[in-house]
Amino acid sequence: MSQHQILSTEPKPFVKWAGGKRQLITEIDRHIPKEFGTYFEPFLGGGAVLFHLLGKNSGMKCKVSDLNSDLVLAYVTIRDKLDDLISSLENHSKNYNKNPDSYYYGIRESEPKDQIDKVSRLLFLNRTCFNGLYRVNSKGKFNVPLGRYSNPNIVNEENLTTVSHILQSKKIQINCRDFSAVLTDAKKGDFVYFDPPYQPVSDTANFTSYTNRDFTYKDLENLVQVSEKLSDKGCKVLHSNSNSKDVRELFSKDWKVIEVSANRSINSDSAKRTGQKELLIKNY
Ligand SMILES: C[S@@+](CC[C@H](N)C(=O)[O-])C[C@H]1O[C@@H](n2cnc3c(N)ncnc32)[C@H](O)[C@@H]1O
Repeated sequence: MSQHQILSTEPKPFVKWAGGKRQLITEIDRHIPKEFGTYFEPFLGGGAVLFHLLGKNSGMKCKVSDLNSDLVLAYVTIRDKLDDLISSLENHSKNYNKNPDSYYYGIRESEPKDQIDKVSRLLFLNRTCFNGLYRVNSKGKFNVPLGRYSNPNIVNEENLTTVSHILQSKKIQINCRDFSAVLTDAKKGDFVYFDPPYQPVSDTANFTSYTNRDFTYKDLENLVQVSEKLSDKGCKVLHSNSNSKDVRELFSKDWKVIEVSANRSINSDSAKRTGQKELLIKNY
């Protein structure tokens, strides 16, 4: 347990993540089943839905995962080594304030091996980079330029402390694994929320670089098959995805498709930020 004070504020995502669900949380909440066994979130990202649910019920049993190993390491480090992490972030904050530009690019180029240094680098870059967007190139290297923030909250100790405390629950498991692994441990009555990298609605709207491996149409087909199998087992399954033809066509008539309005702030083209519809798809 961390020596930091335990706060009673609601936990929030500790990273701004592309496709983050904070703006859609009210819509999503309406479709969360009233009762379920274990909560599964196999495309965890910034965990907007997980933290929302834990804010309402911190004793909830859950198994959450993501394929991005740097991100999963961040969750585990916040849970287990908060004090060291906060000291490292304070150090980043001090150095950044002396010379934001050169410090940012120096850290962006660095490749720390130490666990604390790795995670504090990810959180520091997430707080200070352009649009708070996690994006890596084909070599897996973070390649976002410096953002324009006058006073970024690099340490954010209050939320990290709340998140650390809540993640220490023995009922929460966090793993780095492919989404399909959910099939091995989800059982009848469990609830699975899938929020994969979205299917592009047009060729130019492609945004799938969370890891250095793209989420392809084949992956989406596989995801739909996994979902059908979960359905057969008696799991409640909810999906988020783009309002694309591919997505609508792949789900059979057994699934309910609900259109919701999205107002995405992570999109480099501000014209594309407004008025888009997204889909929620569920089997209950
Ligand atoms: C749309 S984001 C999830 C956003 C999240 N709901 C939030 O509120 O921040 C999709 C996530 O899926 C992860 N991912 C991509 N391919 C995956 C795979 N094959 N299995 C598991 N996770 C994957 C990415 O690393 C990314 O974090």
